[in-house]
Order: sequence, then structure tokens, then C-alpha cells
Amino acid sequence: MKENIILKAHDLILENINKDSIVVDATCGNGHDTLFLAERVKLVYAFDIQEEAIHQTQNRLKDFNNVKYILDSHENILNYVTDYDGVIFNLGYLPGSDKLIKTNHRTTIKTLENLNQNKKGFILLVIYPGHLEGFIESVAITSWLDKKNIKYRVIRNPYKTEKESPYIVFWNYNSF
Ligand SMILES: C[S@@+](CC[C@H](N)C(=O)[O-])C[C@H]1O[C@@H](n2cnc3c(N)ncnc32)[C@H](O)[C@@H]1O
Repeated sequence: MKENIILKAHDLILENINKDSIVVDATCGNGHDTLFLAERVKLVYAFDIQEEAIHQTQNRLKDFNNVKYILDSHENILNYVTDYDGVIFNLGYLPGSDKLIKTNHRTTIKTLENLNQNKKGFILLVIYPGHLEGFIESVAITSWLDKKNIKYRVIRNPYKTEKESPYIVFWNYNSF
């Protein structure tokens, strides 16, 4: 069963896309979110630093021709993509794989900094504070957002109130 927080993230994405949208999946992993997007938008850019993740995503999306796969860190998104309507991040590690390879607060903040120069579209992050790096990442993201004065929404699962439960952070530069 899909994590409830992912269903909430997908609902929020639905409110912000249409069939002509271009969306970046900054952490494609096993390709579940890429598939959700590819079924609904014109073009998806799927980034990951792991070859295994890119292959998994390509395999899951073999019937789709509206996905560009990029084996590179999301820090470099703007080297490949200039026109986009939104960027999504599902942070953490690739489920069923090496847990040592996971998103990191330094690279995540660098990417947010890059995207903040562009100020385009929506940004959605699913954050997992239940493991140490995820917790550090969650604090780093909140303090970065506050420093930048960005108005953002936090969405939590009301039935999972533990402080380590995953949650969503969302903002849209188009509606500032
Ligand atoms: C939680 S998984 C993503 C799950 C995926 N969205 C799905 O639907 O299956 C996080 C992914 O982020 C990737 N990752 C870690 N650091 C990255 C970076 N700097 N740039 C791009 N991807 C990164 C990991 O390799 C991992 O596959």
C-alpha cells in the first residue's frame, strides 16, 4: 500500500499540474512518482544519482515516451531544464537498496538555492525526519525557508502525529 503521505503529495501535485505541464522529479528512485507524473503531464525530467534508480524508473515507464532520464544530482537541474512548472523531491534513500546512499541536507539546500534564483513553479518535498540525516535535512530545510522568507505549507498525516513521521513541504512561486 502506498504511504498515506505520498497520496497526499500526489493530491497536491494534481492541484498544480495539467496535461501541458513540465515537471521535474528530482529523486526518481523506483519511479513511482515519475509514473504518477508521466500519466498526467506533457513531460517529466527524472533525476537520480544512482544508475539502479534510473534503470528501475526506465523499466517502470517503458511504455511512456514523455520522460527524460538524467543520471546526475538534482543540484544540476538547471543545467538540463530551464522551462518547468514544478519540481518534486521524495527525500531519503532508495527503498530496497543501499541505505547509505540518501539525500543530504547540503545538496538539498544547494538545489533549493538554485531553484530559488529561478523562482518558477511549485516545489514539493516529502521529508523523512525519522532517520538522522532526514532529521538534519528537515531542520535545514525549515531554517532555509524561514531565512528566505518563503511562504510555505506543511502537510502532515493527521493520524501520524509522532515528530518523526514523514511530512510534506510545499510552496508555489507563481502564487507569491
Ligand atoms: C525516497 S527515494 C525516491 C523515491 C521515488 N520518488 C519513488 O517514487 O520511487 C530517494 C532517491 O533520491 C536519490 N538521491 C539521493 N541524492 C540525490 C541527489 N543529490 N540527486 C538526485 N537524486 C538523489 C536516491 O538515490 C534515491 O533513489
